[in-house]
Amino acid sequence: MSYLFTSQRELPSYRHLEAEPLSGALGAMISGVDLADDLSRDVINEIYAALLEFKVLFLRDQEMTDEQHLRLARKFGMPQGPGSIPQVEGYPMIRLQRMDEYQTIGGDVNYHSDDSYRDYPSRMSILRGLTMPIGGGNTIWCDMEKAYASLSGPMKTFLEGLTAEHTLSKNFGQGILEGGGAKAYEDMMKRNPPVVHPVIRTHPETGRKCLYVNEMLTSRFLELNKEESDALLEMLLEHSYQPEHECRFFWRDNSVAIWDNRCTQHRGINDFTPAFRLMHRIAIVDDRRPSLDPDNEPRLPYDRNADFIRVEDLFVNKPELTYHVDGEEPAQGNGAATESGNGAADPEDEYAAEVDRKFLEKLNGNRHGIAFTAGAAARLEKIPRMFRGAAISAVIAEAQKQGSTEANISILDAVQAKRRGG
Ligand SMILES: [Fe+2]
Repeated sequence: MSYLFTSQRELPSYRHLEAEPLSGALGAMISGVDLADDLSRDVINEIYAALLEFKVLFLRDQEMTDEQHLRLARKFGMPQGPGSIPQVEGYPMIRLQRMDEYQTIGGDVNYHSDDSYRDYPSRMSILRGLTMPIGGGNTIWCDMEKAYASLSGPMKTFLEGLTAEHTLSKNFGQGILEGGGAKAYEDMMKRNPPVVHPVIRTHPETGRKCLYVNEMLTSRFLELNKEESDALLEMLLEHSYQPEHECRFFWRDNSVAIWDNRCTQHRGINDFTPAFRLMHRIAIVDDRRPSLDPDNEPRLPYDRNADFIRVEDLFVNKPELTYHVDGEEPAQGNGAATESGNGAADPEDEYAAEVDRKFLEKLNGNRHGIAFTAGAAARLEKIPRMFRGAAISAVIAEAQKQGSTEANISILDAVQAKRRGG
């Protein structure tokens, strides 16, 4: 099955709605339906058919209540329960996305497929723009079927044998670590352990293959070494995110977007803060894991009487099996990565006693001639491995900037304060 742009395909006509394509790859403006209505199965089936055809649907002037938003979502499947994103009061399954001068758009500016860090990610998302900024705050979607289709044959064959890790820590780890300390980071990872998905997945309904790695959440390929993995990921992301694969939506108040997370990715554009923006989103869980062979995937049992699926149930590998947290860190270690140890004792001495001498020696072998104190090394050692390299480079750069040949705790504090925006 070769990929055809919208203009190259024979497009279906619908009985209950009109669909006007928005770009060559994906997206259509839908008119003729009012999503606030209690829509019949026929209409819902047509909306779903249009979703499979265009991958993302946009509707204007859809004023509705949270109750109506939820009723609509339930017609497509089971909403996902409360996770780490704030929720609308009284509606634990509706995500609140509120931006103003204090709360600016964060990780959403990186391309992603919703919830790919779970074993059972979201099948589709329904996002309502309630109060939208004038001019800015567009969202871009990327067609990952097209991204796959435009790879060469040998590359497709190579990628089919690979799996990739998806983890929240890639995009949010550093912020949680610096803002909440090591304990907050470990709690986050315990609740959201890394998961593994195939790099190429088959869409369970269209049968089409899609590339399933994303900028925000995919951290590495399990079968490759780090050098290969970093280079390949960079190449695939650069290949995917190009205008020929994308469409861009300009929101107005009461616009709605409905998208298929299995074959698309999206990202926000932060060109509006500090203007106010308010959006409500419901994620509908897929009952099959991303797979090359979805027909043989076990189905996630939906409890039709439940209000939503609990987030904990969306992980196959339970947290305790994949991320050990309890009882390893000495009590004073918790939060050490962000605290400067303002007690009476000299923080250098306080931490120095704990340092692993081998780690200190390795640090002091750096080619910049910067000597690390034992205290600074002990603090760096507490930073999770995946962030440690970046922290070490930043400390060396700061020491050089200060004209110092020594990397001590006060230099590390300066680096961490700068990262927190201090
Ligand atoms: Fe998203």
